[in-house]
Amino acid sequence: MSVAGGPELFGWEFATDPYPAYAWLREHEPVRWTTLPSGVGAWLVTRYADAREALADPRLSKNPVHHAGESHTKGRTGIPGERSADLMTHLLNIDPPDHTRLRRLVSKAFTPRRVAAFEPRVRELTDRFIDAFAPAGEADLIHDFAFPLPIYAICDLLGVPEEDQDDFRDWAGMMIRHGGGPRGGVARSVKRMRAYLVELIHRKRGDLGDDLISGLIRASDHGEHLSENEAAAMAFILLFAGFETTVNLIGNGVHTLLRHPGQRARLQQSLERGESALLESAVEELLRYDGPVELATWRYATEPLTVGGEKVSAGDPVLVVLAAADRDPARFAEPDTVDLARRDNPHLGYGHGIHYCLGAPLARLEARTALGALLTRLPDLRLAADPAELRWRGGLIMRGLRTLPVAFSASGAPHGK
Ligand code: HEM
Repeated sequence: MSVAGGPELFGWEFATDPYPAYAWLREHEPVRWTTLPSGVGAWLVTRYADAREALADPRLSKNPVHHAGESHTKGRTGIPGERSADLMTHLLNIDPPDHTRLRRLVSKAFTPRRVAAFEPRVRELTDRFIDAFAPAGEADLIHDFAFPLPIYAICDLLGVPEEDQDDFRDWAGMMIRHGGGPRGGVARSVKRMRAYLVELIHRKRGDLGDDLISGLIRASDHGEHLSENEAAAMAFILLFAGFETTVNLIGNGVHTLLRHPGQRARLQQSLERGESALLESAVEELLRYDGPVELATWRYATEPLTVGGEKVSAGDPVLVVLAAADRDPARFAEPDTVDLARRDNPHLGYGHGIHYCLGAPLARLEARTALGALLTRLPDLRLAADPAELRWRGGLIMRGLRTLPVAFSASGAPHGK
């Protein structure tokens, strides 16, 4: 049933603070048919219980061929490069059994051991970027810190040689600025990135190392086949899925901490005592409260079904609103309150079901390291802008700030010197 009126969705005001609109939807129209700014229609699912069920429902396919829309809008997912057939076959666009096979392969290469071994490198990168802006006493935390950290970290993990990493930074910058729109620069960046990845995979075949791409090649050479295209698409989705998400986890996380001084002071004191438990629960709470993935990626009904009591037709797109589900009072006590020590916190910020975030251990490592270092090294870090003036990016899937101006007491000495 459709309720007349209701909040305006997807405008500028909505981007600044979508949570009141989501609260209205949860209460009045928890599964609502909406025409998105792109002109494509989709069901928005906002209650926690419905969201969790939809994320794990095998009748909701990830494969855009099931979209019943007009041909010009069919299967638009918002992921840059989605029009490039060579990059389409990635984890977030496929169903079992292909998904099971590819996920098993990449899981073999993306082990907890590899992520844990990566910690010193993440620390080193974190300190290097803080060293670069610390003497100035001010910075744009998005541009100077949250943006470069994950891109260099993922390049290292994949095994992109250091001399090529600045190219990746440029290509990724183009994507984050323009999102998945049809602009020529994005398409060119995606094309270059793909050509580079295919060439790199080719080169590594003859000289395997300890990096993730070598791991993917090894895994595929042991019985299960992974074509060069699939390997390039896999490397691309790891870059795409692991980059902007982490930029915004750090950006949104620092923004939340700076706007909740009591909670931030508590965390800072626990870090001064050398404790890590509060930092760990803080990262989960920051993800729940204002996480980077506002909506899960597109799903399409393969047959008529009911979601939260609403009839969904075969071919209809379904978008699960993670940001709304994670503030559902039916699941979380005082959902609009930031509680860094929250214990009962089964948030959906990393998704749920077979597409649950593969990079969650790496994301947690990067977020803990970045937030811990910022609060310890810049103890008087503060916002250097009127919060009302901050601008949020307008994308559908991701939620993140364009800039985050901060100020702090300048410190000249590089870390550890
Ligand atoms: C920083 C915070 C991150 C958040 C909040 C996040 C969130 C998510 C979410 C919500 C999904 C599921 C999407 C859906 O079902 O529609 C997902 C999937 C995925 N994520 Fe993450 N992610 C993060 C970081 C990363 C990192 C660092 C990597 C890897 C380097 C990564 C790799 C992936 C991959 C490969 C998938 C697809 C898994 C599949 O389809 O089987 N993510 N992520």
